[in-house]
Amino acid sequence: MDINEIVNEMTLEEKAKLVNGSTFFGMAAIERLGIKRLQLLDGGTGMNFEQLFGDYYSQIEEETNSTNGMMGSTILTHVIENYYYPDRLDEEEKEVYRWIKERLERQTGGDYAPGCFPPGILLGATFQKQVVREVGESLGAEARLFGVDILLGTPNVNIHRDPLNGRLFEGYSEDPCLVAELAPEMVKGVQNFGIAANVKHFAANNQETNRVGINETISERALKEIYLPGFRACVEKGQVKTVMSAYNAINGVPCTENSWLLTEELRNNWGFDGMVVSDWGAVYHPVEALEAGNDLAMPGPIDGTPIVEAVKSGRLKEDVLNLAVKRILKLIDDCKPAEGKEHKIYNREQLFFATTKAAYDAAVEGIVLLKNRENLFPLKKENHVFLVGSAANQLLECGSGSAGITTNRTSSLSESLREFLGADNVWMPENCGYDWEFQDMEPNQKRLLEKETTCILAVVKVGGMEGNDRENLALDKQDVMLLQKMGKWKEQYAFRLGLVLNVCGPVDTTPYEAFTDGIFVCFLPGMEGGHALSDLMTGKRTPSGKLPLTFPKKYEDTPTCLNFPGDGYEVHYGEGIYVGYRYYDKKKILPAYSFGFGLSYTTFEVEELVVDTDVFTEKLQVEVTITNTGTIPGAEVLQLYISDPYSTLPKPVKELKAFEKVYLQAGETKAVSFTLKKEQFASYDTDYHMWIAEEGYYDILIATSSREKDIRQRKRVYLENQTPYSYGMTSTIKVFYEEEALKERLKDLWMSKHWDWQIIESNYQYTPNRKLVEVLPEPWKQEDVDFASFQKFIENVKKR
Ligand code: BGC
Repeated sequence: MDINEIVNEMTLEEKAKLVNGSTFFGMAAIERLGIKRLQLLDGGTGMNFEQLFGDYYSQIEEETNSTNGMMGSTILTHVIENYYYPDRLDEEEKEVYRWIKERLERQTGGDYAPGCFPPGILLGATFQKQVVREVGESLGAEARLFGVDILLGTPNVNIHRDPLNGRLFEGYSEDPCLVAELAPEMVKGVQNFGIAANVKHFAANNQETNRVGINETISERALKEIYLPGFRACVEKGQVKTVMSAYNAINGVPCTENSWLLTEELRNNWGFDGMVVSDWGAVYHPVEALEAGNDLAMPGPIDGTPIVEAVKSGRLKEDVLNLAVKRILKLIDDCKPAEGKEHKIYNREQLFFATTKAAYDAAVEGIVLLKNRENLFPLKKENHVFLVGSAANQLLECGSGSAGITTNRTSSLSESLREFLGADNVWMPENCGYDWEFQDMEPNQKRLLEKETTCILAVVKVGGMEGNDRENLALDKQDVMLLQKMGKWKEQYAFRLGLVLNVCGPVDTTPYEAFTDGIFVCFLPGMEGGHALSDLMTGKRTPSGKLPLTFPKKYEDTPTCLNFPGDGYEVHYGEGIYVGYRYYDKKKILPAYSFGFGLSYTTFEVEELVVDTDVFTEKLQVEVTITNTGTIPGAEVLQLYISDPYSTLPKPVKELKAFEKVYLQAGETKAVSFTLKKEQFASYDTDYHMWIAEEGYYDILIATSSREKDIRQRKRVYLENQTPYSYGMTSTIKVFYEEEALKERLKDLWMSKHWDWQIIESNYQYTPNRKLVEVLPEPWKQEDVDFASFQKFIENVKKR
């Protein structure tokens, strides 16, 4: 495709048509010029049927110029919900159902139910790149089958700022390094199948309350260090082809009109050369959006007239429009299956197998064992299990909204447990156990509760949703009452209590800790969640998931509790860079469960941390050995944190910089090495507007969680680097005065020049941040021997 030639041939109206959506999930086609329509669809956790079917209908509307109003209608919603149970539909609905089924099968060439995959939060908990890639490939392969060209939300990298965010589950972590390592794998996986991935929501879309129009005040440092790295990694490492601009405004400018974000950072600094698509309805001013670098406004149909008129009146330069058109045409060209483009392709059976495996692998690697008093888990053959709680019957496998999945592919925890323990040894009291009363029980059940080998498993769910934030961290009322009842019973009977948190994010566990023996958190585990959870509970697999975010003891402990979700349409990110463990560490607040924490059935010893050099300039090689000291195979996540004990900028106590999940047979030892680059030691200085890796001492910590007591090895190293903080003539009076060696040498200089030392004393008292060069009584000259020798000396003083 010769893009320039096509642009030359396009009319203004055609250009305006192309930069606007045509249907709810479809871009415009311009048949005259062979420009094909691209299909967008949400797909971070699987193919979203609600959107696909709705879009099929809006296509008819577009083609027939009619509005039958099917998109989002009750009939359509009902058909989608019951797509796999058509008997439940009435006649009118059945007609719609048949139409959709026929349309879908024309697309896919037969019956194929889409997979439902773990969302970002569970992928984050895997601390494992390969499984994220596998899930990405599954999504890419399914997208191909369903005729989707751009798969939205692959990934959603918005940071877990506050645990109550309704869409928290879609994001990967509270930690930018974990996000930046894992999320690009999703992009690569999707794009391996020739589908354009899409990273959203750019940027800092961290709440649902007033999500359309909320203005967030965020420091430049927090943006650079916390909220942008995930996006940047998807661009630089993942080569993502599309970026979704968010609903919110940052520092007064809506993301879709934010040229700092969409042009300066994204394109100029990171080298993004793909297409920016707005979130649905996020373009508030079409001209300003195009000018800022937002190429496509969604959803359609959107009338292009305002853009045509803006060009005609001179309010919008045609070149600006052309640029957006060119980027869109380039993407269309990229999405065209063409010769010479090698993309992976699966046949239907391979696809079913691969997607099931990916969903299982991600769940089994990500589900976290939080507590295991006296080895409640793994369950043994002699255990009897009662399954109670809101999710005992059926796990909540996915969230809702864009990330909601309709499929008939599912797995059952109870059935899997029955396979292991025997059908007669797994009981499910009626009505989730809510009405279960000891006095009404059969004698054999009563006897069971008196045995230590009996386990009541309370499986409780809390769903996540788009559009709304959660109100608090509490479980459902009925589950709370159930757990309280279990607590009472435990005072009298010997059974043990396990808790499974089938939740969209952190929940309050504090009220149940005293009487709960074991806790698993499976988040929203996708279609293979039941199998994965049962395999972990019964020891077929050893848990190795780690929390990608902190579980606080109470909401009031969270970094954002005073600043979420803001006052009306204003929210202040007052915690700055202190998000997640960065805050809990600094404030010395002990959470319920720390970032990076997760138990195993085996034990690991971490030894011999060695570095290739104690003083480095560009790179540091770190090596450590780990041994599985238990009797079964397992995996541990080695987490490398850097701590900067003396720094010019205020910094978190420690920050994750690298990690590796290590798989070990019983008794096996492995050496694991990490290469750290100077840049990984840098923080963002808002005075200098730059990343600075300050010269000085750093501690390299190897840990198995962010908890102080899980730091297994530490080693101090020294980074040599010239930076604006290096000692020199531009250092501040404060620095000269407070560093003994510098102060002494400065005094010598002063004496040799017969200057009044009081100049320094008063500057220190009143204006300590003035630079030395600014207070010298005579101009600083390089040729002056006193100055030269002074400068040489101070530049060689080692920083702490
Ligand atoms: C959501 C996006 C989604 C889009 C299209 C919006 O409401 O915020 O995440 O991709 O709709 O479904």
